[in-house]
Amino acid sequence: MKALILAGGYATRLRPLSCTRPKLLFPIAGRPMLEWIIENLAKEGVDEIILAVNYMADLLRKHFKSRFNGIRIRYSIDPTPLGTGGPIKQAQGLLGGKGTFLAMNGDILSEAPIKSMLKAHRETGAIVTIALHKVEDPSRFGVAKMANRKRIEAFIEKPRKSDARSSWINAGIYIMEPRVFNYIDAGRKVSVEREVFPILAKREKLYGFKYYGPWFDIGKFEDYMNANHKFLARISGRTPMVGNGTKVRRSTQLIPPVVINRKVEIGDDCVIGPYVAIDDHVEIERGSRIARSILFQESKIGELSSIDSSIVGEHVVTGRNVKLRGGTIVSDYVSVRDNITLGPRVIICPYKEVDQSILKPMSVK
Ligand code: GTP
Repeated sequence: MKALILAGGYATRLRPLSCTRPKLLFPIAGRPMLEWIIENLAKEGVDEIILAVNYMADLLRKHFKSRFNGIRIRYSIDPTPLGTGGPIKQAQGLLGGKGTFLAMNGDILSEAPIKSMLKAHRETGAIVTIALHKVEDPSRFGVAKMANRKRIEAFIEKPRKSDARSSWINAGIYIMEPRVFNYIDAGRKVSVEREVFPILAKREKLYGFKYYGPWFDIGKFEDYMNANHKFLARISGRTPMVGNGTKVRRSTQLIPPVVINRKVEIGDDCVIGPYVAIDDHVEIERGSRIARSILFQESKIGELSSIDSSIVGEHVVTGRNVKLRGGTIVSDYVSVRDNITLGPRVIICPYKEVDQSILKPMSVK
C-alpha cells in the first residue's frame, strides 16, 4: 500500500527550533521523528511513501533521498501551502487512481495497526476510515460523534473538556479510497478535517477505527519532550545506549534511560541522565550534569555545567558553569558565556550571544 505523509507544515508552535528544520526532522530518542514513522509503516505493509512537502522540503529530501529502509520515497511539492487536504489532491497522480491508500499527519507517532485498520475499512464501504484515539483531555482535538459503533456522524472541533460527548479523537491517520479526490478542490488550501470529513460524514461514508496503543501528537514543546521521554524509556529502559565512536570517561555516570548517538565525547565526572538524548558529535566537558534534556548535534557544553529539562539546538556553544533550567530552549548556533544561568522557560533565538543570566520566562529575539 502507498502512504501519503503530510510533511509541509511550518510548525509554528515549535519555533524557534523549527525556523531551521522541519518538525519531522526533530530528533526523538536520537532519530528524526519521521524515521520512527516510516519504520512502523514498513512493518504494517506500506511499501511506498509519498512525502507531501513544502516548508524546508530540501532538508527532508537530503535526509530520506529516494529510498529509506528499503521503502521507496517520493515527494509531492505544494506550489503554495495547501493545508491538510490540498496536498492529498496534489499527490493524486503519485497515489494513482485505483488503490486504497493511507494518509497521515507527519507529526503523529504511533503503532497504529494499519493492516487491521484496512481490513475494518473494507468491511464498511467507507470512503475514509479515521483512526480514533482516546485521550483524557480532548479540548485540543476533533472529537468524534458516533452514529453507531463504527460510523462517524460528525466531529466536534476542540470542545471544552466538560462538553465532549466522547473522548475518541481524530488521531490523524486515515485509510482513503481514491473517490476522496472528488471531494477536494485542486490548487487551494483545504482543511481535510473541516471541509472534507463533514461532507463524507453527511453522506455516511466516514468511519472510525478505535486504536488503543501509544499515540503522540507533536504540536508543542511539551508534547515533544513527553514523546522523547516515552521513546527513551522504550528503547533504553535500563541500559544506556551509546553509538559508535562515542567516548565516555570511566568516572562519568550514565543513568538510563539515556541515548547517546555517534562520535560524542563526554569528559570526566559527568552525570548524564535520566531521560537524556544526545545527538552526533556533541562534546560535554568534565563535571557537567545533564538530566531530562535533548541535545541536538554538534553542540559543545563547557565544564561544570548543569542542564535540566531543556533543549539545546545544534552548534550551540556554552561556557563553563552554565545552568539551563526547566523548559529552556537554546536555538541553533547560540553561544552562552561562562557562569550564565537561563531559566525557567527562557527561549533564545538562533545565532544570539548570551552574556547575562535570565531567571524569568522570556523569549530573546
Ligand atoms: P503548527 O504551525 O505549530 O500548528 O504545526 P504544523 O505546521 O505541523 O501544523 P499541523 O500540526 O496542523 O499539521 C499537521 C500535519 O500536517 C503536520 O505533519 C504538518 O507538517 C502537515 N501540514 C500542515 N500544513 C501543511 C501544508 O500546507 N502542506 C503540507 N504538505 N503539509 C502540511
